[in-house]
Amino acid sequence: MAKALVTGGAGLIGSHIVDQLLARGDEVRILDNLSKPTHLLGKPSWVPPQAEFILGDMRNRKDLEAALDGVDLVFHQAAAGGFMPEVATYFHTNAVGTALMFEIMRDMCRRPRKVVVASSQAVYGEGKYFCDGCRQPRYPTPRLDDQLLAGQWEMQCPACGAKMRPIPTDEARVDPRTPYAMSKYAEEMIAINCGRAFDIPTVALRYSVTYGPRQSIFNPYTGICSIFSTRLLNDLPPVVYEDGQQTRDFVYVEDVARANLLVADQDQANYRVYNVGTGRPTSVLRFIELLAGLYHKPARTIQRGEFRPGEVRHLFADNSRIRALGWRPTVPVEEGLRRYAAWIASQKDIRDYFGEAEALMKRAQVVRQAQWAAV
Ligand SMILES: NC(=O)c1ccc[n+]([C@@H]2O[C@H](COP(=O)([O-])OP(=O)(O)OC[C@H]3O[C@@H](n4cnc5c(N)ncnc54)[C@H](O)[C@@H]3O)[C@@H](O)[C@H]2O)c1
Ligand SMILES: [Zn+2]
Repeated sequence: MAKALVTGGAGLIGSHIVDQLLARGDEVRILDNLSKPTHLLGKPSWVPPQAEFILGDMRNRKDLEAALDGVDLVFHQAAAGGFMPEVATYFHTNAVGTALMFEIMRDMCRRPRKVVVASSQAVYGEGKYFCDGCRQPRYPTPRLDDQLLAGQWEMQCPACGAKMRPIPTDEARVDPRTPYAMSKYAEEMIAINCGRAFDIPTVALRYSVTYGPRQSIFNPYTGICSIFSTRLLNDLPPVVYEDGQQTRDFVYVEDVARANLLVADQDQANYRVYNVGTGRPTSVLRFIELLAGLYHKPARTIQRGEFRPGEVRHLFADNSRIRALGWRPTVPVEEGLRRYAAWIASQKDIRDYFGEAEALMKRAQVVRQAQWAAV
């Protein structure tokens, strides 16, 4: 039996890690600041009474010292996420918070024996592609605003200009551009490199788009599954950026939680980074169709030629590295969404918060509009 700390343990992924740790008989402590708007109504009902709960902040030394005291394992999930207008918050929480955690662990008499850190596929900036013209794989840079303002959504080969086809993205190269992506890459580097320097075995997992029961239904800045669901359930069409043909790798939350427990137990994973995704692309429009079908609503959308600067066009994981450790995705998106739909049906007072946040996101330019559509 181990004693584990789960930072962000009230959230989507953290709470499922908590459940899996308790199920195997570990002792669990949670550090979570119940940040808003994620936890608009306070501590969620799924935080189990068997877990010790510390209401505290990753950015606060005393809170972190109390949380880390006496633990064998750390699953670091707490983070600021998504496309919020703030910039500095990402770095304070994700980069500085992680650095503070390693500084404290370095100075402890009894250090944790393993730390697993949540990174993100966002670090790639753009997915990996194949150019049939050049017969070569490519890791293109993210599309610049000029291309997006012109409404040219697809990726073109930097050498020959041909349209490229997406292929699974491996862990080889990163190109983080958005504040969130930069902060997560900083977090990952701090974790792996401080872990190595301080002799604290550390692993970073780059999750694909994770969804499932307990994804906040209050946060308009992140969580496509809940954002689209709360729109559909309020008879409002989801707002789709670009043309909806962009693809993502949707991975079910319990599979992600299981990857955390798996790498925690394997020494060969130490100081390495792993993609955690299904390897299967799903377009945003297809995702909406699936949800609308489950809610018996029309799959109508609003498309205004808007885009989010720095956003990836196509990205799905090459998961062969973590498969070699014995991990497999077990829940396909159709089944995962059925489970999500059953869960959201049990939630009270499902409102749309996206409508209100839209103006703010446009003012802060995290959402912009193609010029042809702006008339
Ligand atoms: N959900 C995804 O699609 C996805 C994809 C890639 C990476 N990730 C990463 O996975 C991790 C977990 O994400 P999630 O989807 O469960 O998000 P979530 O928002 O549901 O959970 C994050 C939790 O962290 C807590 N938190 C935020 N700031 C904190 C702070 N300063 N101090 C203490 N607690 C704080 C929140 O209250 C929340 O409970 C994050 O590190 C995120 O960057 C998520
Ligand atoms: Zn080419």
